[in-house]
Amino acid sequence: MGEPTSSEPRSSARSTNVRPGTSPVTMASRGFDTYRRLGCSGCHEPSSSVHAPELRGLYGRTVHLRDGRTLAADEAYIRDSILLPKRDVVAGYEPIMPSFQGQATEGDILELIAWMKSP
Ligand code: HEC
Repeated sequence: MGEPTSSEPRSSARSTNVRPGTSPVTMASRGFDTYRRLGCSGCHEPSSSVHAPELRGLYGRTVHLRDGRTLAADEAYIRDSILLPKRDVVAGYEPIMPSFQGQATEGDILELIAWMKSP
């Protein structure tokens, strides 16, 4: 009795002795769930009908903004893009992204960034 046998259909994420939330891999896969849960995927998935940049692997990429500035996608930039999307608008896209201030928690943002860091 008490053997915690999981009957979850997806056994790919079997827990090792890494504590949840501390491993970059776990953070990234949670980030992907968060991306879908908050509705980011509705615009950002390449299959979406909305024209929005792909976010997977964004971290570290060079981004060209509408106003002519060029910057590297670091954590501060990604955070601002989620909370203050009108501030840095990517060249070639419309500023249609809503702010997720009050919707995305600090934990959500850290998970999203971990996911964007993963290849
Ligand atoms: C209504 C559609 C829409 C939704 C929903 C949306 N976005 Fe966006 N997002 C865009 C568009 C369009 C751009 C490009 C224009 C801009 O920079 O605002 C963008 C830009 C970004 C950028 C900058 C991308 C780059 O290439 O530099 C990040 C980061 C981002 N979004 C993250 C998110 C996250 C995380 C969520 C969910 C919490 C989300 N977005 C939800 C439409 C959306």
